[in-house]
Amino acid sequence: MKILIVCILTVTSTLLFPNKTNHYTQNSPLEESIERGAEIYQDFCVSCHMPSGEGIRKTYPPLAKSDYLMNNRTASIKGIKYGQKGEIVVNGQKYNGFMAPMGLSDDEVADVMNYITNSWGNKNDKIVSEAEVAKVKK
Ligand code: HEC
Repeated sequence: MKILIVCILTVTSTLLFPNKTNHYTQNSPLEESIERGAEIYQDFCVSCHMPSGEGIRKTYPPLAKSDYLMNNRTASIKGIKYGQKGEIVVNGQKYNGFMAPMGLSDDEVADVMNYITNSWGNKNDKIVSEAEVAKVKK
């Protein structure tokens, strides 16, 4: 009797919630890249660009709603990959600092780009791929 009840419950729940068990395992490639990128961000970027991507005014530029990041995809990849120095303007504020290269591999640069361009109000549906990062030269 017990077994029968368990069977009925299992069958009805799979009928009622067909995707329930798969929901978290079937993420899109972009979602999975963003998840990996979040960890890289915590390890390599958060100390300067801050937990919500707000940066530190006049010292570390923001990534949240950054016009520089969202309008200069290749330059941003290049900066993360090889380091970034010299004057840039982010949301109307001049920065003339230095970001050292962090030694990330091309796939890690792609993941962290997908994270920062899809966080804190930023939105970018066009996934950054490892191949795209590989094409960006010094
Ligand atoms: C030691 C501090 C520091 C760390 C760590 C750091 N950055 Fe930066 N970042 C800077 C500075 C300073 C600039 C501006 C450089 C300039 O003035 O040319 C910058 C610029 C940028 C820009 C372009 C400007 C903007 O705000 O849109 C992006 C994108 C960026 N960083 C992403 C990252 C990512 C992703 C990481 C981690 C993988 C990271 N940074 C780690 C200090 C840092």
